[in-house]
Amino acid sequence: MSPDVPPSNHWPLHGGEAAPLLARFGLPADTPLRDVSANLNPLGPPEWLPEWLAERAADLGRYPDPDYTAARAAIAAHEGVTPEQVRLTNGGAEAIYLAAALHAGRPAAILEPGFAEYRRACAAHGLPVQGLPLAAPDFALDPEALVAGLGEAEVLFMGRPNNPTATLVPRPVMERLLELTAARGCTLVVDEAFIDFVDDAERLTPWLERFEHLILLRSLTKWFTLPGLRLGYLLAAPARVAAAGAFQPAWSVNQLAADLVAPLLADRDFDARTRAWLAAERPAMQAALSDLGLRVVPSRANFFLVRHPQGAAATARLLPALLRRGWLARHTQGFAGLDGGWLRLALRSDEENRALCQALAAAMAEVDRGETP
Ligand SMILES: Cc1ncc(COP(=O)(O)O)c(C=O)c1O
Repeated sequence: MSPDVPPSNHWPLHGGEAAPLLARFGLPADTPLRDVSANLNPLGPPEWLPEWLAERAADLGRYPDPDYTAARAAIAAHEGVTPEQVRLTNGGAEAIYLAAALHAGRPAAILEPGFAEYRRACAAHGLPVQGLPLAAPDFALDPEALVAGLGEAEVLFMGRPNNPTATLVPRPVMERLLELTAARGCTLVVDEAFIDFVDDAERLTPWLERFEHLILLRSLTKWFTLPGLRLGYLLAAPARVAAAGAFQPAWSVNQLAADLVAPLLADRDFDARTRAWLAAERPAMQAALSDLGLRVVPSRANFFLVRHPQGAAATARLLPALLRRGWLARHTQGFAGLDGGWLRLALRSDEENRALCQALAAAMAEVDRGETP
């Protein structure tokens, strides 16, 4: 076997990958699972989508507009920016790679624990990386201390809300961080893939005018539950957006995805229903997880980072105990500073959240009895 091919029971890099974990814990490959390892809106995709896709299947017979003019205009209107500040991408993941490509070969810093693709994108484009740790349990950011530790970094990657911590650096702290990084000539890449799950007032979009060194990355796959379709965008000063285009293959975003942007962003009913779900379920689940005795990082996103009160080893044992009960949680192996000692759980429907809490209670009891290997 090539050394590049991971063993069948490797720790998967992302949520939603059950097979390696089932193999690792000796469970049948066809074990039925409910997935709380990927952070997707349980209300989506929008109901009108299948019919919409069927009607447009014939459009696949032509190339997309390479400039994605209509999609970019829809995003620009939605965000209150100009189309020149928008680059449409094949998911937020491609936007991360474009941001790294813009700094190819230059030193980078990454706030950690953070999304695995920041490091992969930097490696792909030859950016030497320095990890800047956020400390448990609150993962708070001190801009002065952070910038003092930036060293030679010319670009800093961070998530807001951050994956996997579900924490949100407050706007005043972001403002200070932007001022400090501007003074040092360090680009700030803020991955806002989950910003839709936060109040609109938290979006940093209005600051693109003020801070030329700010790059915002967005995803439409979480909020609209379209991870298989792939849709995201990068927002920045026009010159950076144009420069990023040099690293993007022509027609990177498929025709159907590009045409979907406008109707997705126009679906105010889907938006309202999702906000109502969040307002009801997020605080309820936060309380329910705490009531179970878990340590829960206060969540500003649609997922929770949790820890067994007895610490890392007990938390790690919850993962197979949940798998055996039909729940796929997100392990935290490979997240700097977490090292498997935490679990990430997606917020789902009321019924699923309750069922997950029941499974967690049983799994915790099993761990307490020392029955879990
Ligand atoms: C923080 C963060 N950014 C970006 C992405 C990529 O999203 P997309 O599916 O739009 O590529 C993810 C996906 O998990 C993510 O967690």
